[in-house]
Amino acid sequence: MRNRLNAAFVIFIALAAMPVRAATVASIESPDSILRVELDIDDGRMGYRVFRKGVPVIGTSRLGFLFQNAEQLQRNLAFTSQATRSFDETWEQPWGERRITRNRYNELRARFTETTRLKRAIDVVFRVYDDGLGFRYEFPDQPGMHDVRITEELTEFDVAQPASKAWWIPAGEWNRYEYLYNSTRLDQVGQAHTPITIRTDDGLYVSFHEAALVDYSSMWLRRVEGQRLRAQLSPGPEGWKVRRTAPFTTPWRTLTISDRAGGLVESSLILNLNEPNRLGDVSWFKPAKYVGIWWTLHLETQSWATGPRHGATTAETKRYIDFAAKHGFRGVLVEGWNPGWDGQWFGNGWNFDFTKATPDFDIEELSRYGKARGVHLVGHHETGCAASHYEQQMDRAFALDERLGIDVVKTGYVCDAGQIERQDTIGGPIIREWHDGQWNANHHLRVVLAAAKHHVAINPHEPIKDTGLRRTYPNWVAREGARGMEYNAWGNPPNPPEHEANLVFTRMLAGPMDFTPGVVSLKGRNGQPFQSTLARQLADYVVLYSPIQMVADLPEHYEARPDALRFIEDVPTDWDDTRVINGEPGDFVTIARRERRGSDWYVGAVTDENARTLKLPLGFLDPGRAYEAQIYRDGDDADWKTNPFAFTVETRRVTRDDVLDLRLAPGGGQAIRLKALR
Ligand code: NOJ
Ligand code: CA
Repeated sequence: MRNRLNAAFVIFIALAAMPVRAATVASIESPDSILRVELDIDDGRMGYRVFRKGVPVIGTSRLGFLFQNAEQLQRNLAFTSQATRSFDETWEQPWGERRITRNRYNELRARFTETTRLKRAIDVVFRVYDDGLGFRYEFPDQPGMHDVRITEELTEFDVAQPASKAWWIPAGEWNRYEYLYNSTRLDQVGQAHTPITIRTDDGLYVSFHEAALVDYSSMWLRRVEGQRLRAQLSPGPEGWKVRRTAPFTTPWRTLTISDRAGGLVESSLILNLNEPNRLGDVSWFKPAKYVGIWWTLHLETQSWATGPRHGATTAETKRYIDFAAKHGFRGVLVEGWNPGWDGQWFGNGWNFDFTKATPDFDIEELSRYGKARGVHLVGHHETGCAASHYEQQMDRAFALDERLGIDVVKTGYVCDAGQIERQDTIGGPIIREWHDGQWNANHHLRVVLAAAKHHVAINPHEPIKDTGLRRTYPNWVAREGARGMEYNAWGNPPNPPEHEANLVFTRMLAGPMDFTPGVVSLKGRNGQPFQSTLARQLADYVVLYSPIQMVADLPEHYEARPDALRFIEDVPTDWDDTRVINGEPGDFVTIARRERRGSDWYVGAVTDENARTLKLPLGFLDPGRAYEAQIYRDGDDADWKTNPFAFTVETRRVTRDDVLDLRLAPGGGQAIRLKALR
């Protein structure tokens, strides 16, 4: 009794001593009242909380900024006004994993104003959906805000429920984004890139990311203590991380929230928080598959450099064009086609020329040869991180591409993190930037806009992470930004069996990835075996979405496996609809997609190192219609370690009332075409 009285007394004293009590100043719910956000002011500091169905998801988390040239903006704030609105639209993706997207949210705009000397104002805007939310800061035009130099953003995410699972890769490390995924308790996360995905112990999946990263530095998340994460902006070379002039807005800080892991994948939150298409008609971009002079370079049986092993020769390219034409693949990527590859090009791009071909590569003849066969060259602009050197040539390069029918260009930024070379004036000093800092975010958009003028689509490797800008700039069609197939050529270790099941619930939540699937020979450099079965190579085409999909292996390897090649020929790269049938990060996933402008469905399922049998209820098929299921599965005794090529193709007649059993081998997968019958 005594103790209880004392405790009550202490609390009373503490509250009495506080000048301003924590108070909820505004709140907003999602359209179907699934999520609720509350804003509060606690002793002059702004904070927010998130609830799902009444249960706290994010406990009180602070907001604010540090500046290089002004006082911090995080204390002495008062809530001064608010406005709310509701929004509901449907919009159509020109290409994508689904055609029609609904964008339905309730918005709260809250203004906070300093009560002391400076009287600066800042708006925090929340858009709350049923499957997640985004919030951003808006700096209104005001005195003292015309040279804003942000040294840190203080946004926090304090996860309210115990979470013994987090899937993440480290941020701020030398290799940008190409790491194996960690699966740890949330309270063991260090400094992570977004998207980072967690599962709370009560079964909620939350993905933290950002949307519309424009003219700003990328947000990493650093764990401060317990389960509290804080924004950590990617560095800049000049002492600030972001420099802007008010009025401006930050990117959206996003949480996608679902009680199914698949709900994260099915959400359109990131796209919805981006601005609508600014390029108008982009029907000149054709989602398609492409082959390329590429895998040999990673196997080191050919070279990028000129000389006896040069891959990019006229004769070799014709061989790939013939193969592409025969099997209906639209593109042929050729790497090493241009000057600059002889010598050390890693992190050294100053010799690259994107307007001239090497003497043994007759680019004019090859584009004619391809055109006569319905095949387009896919361009390759490896910058070696000499990003300004690239910008100095890109208009001429894209004009050349346009003339030659090259309408997709893969770019590349191979160098260690923090080594992007910026040069503001020709011959001027080199400034070193981060792949995901403000300057490079702007660089990528300059490239995408310059390419759009020439009807060229862009696919950067060693990119900045995806934040949904394909909605606004639909010629930014794919990117790398994770460990792709190349790690099976030379990675130490190669990609583990769980890799795709990690990617789907982390990296892929950001947007399309140029993973470059489909290596049916299952061997890397010097015969290093893949940790994958053959069937799984086919499943990846459905599981890992991209509107451009490489058919990454060598023509001779495909010719030796016509049974597997048939699925790769058939599988589309553009979809009307996408459903996640089942899945658990790092363990397994099954995805079904309906082709655009057609009635066929395709299914891909992958597992980790464990064999599993997954149920596939076919309820997504049209009622009253029969389908031929063309099943490409692991053989009964398949195993990535001992028998990776064991592979069976079979067909069955099915309807929406059927449930298929998908038997997946260790490291295995399954691919199915559900062909609609008349
Ligand atoms: C790394 C890319 O991921 C790979 O696809 C490319 O072949 C090399 N850079 C050279 O540009
Ligand atoms: Ca790479």
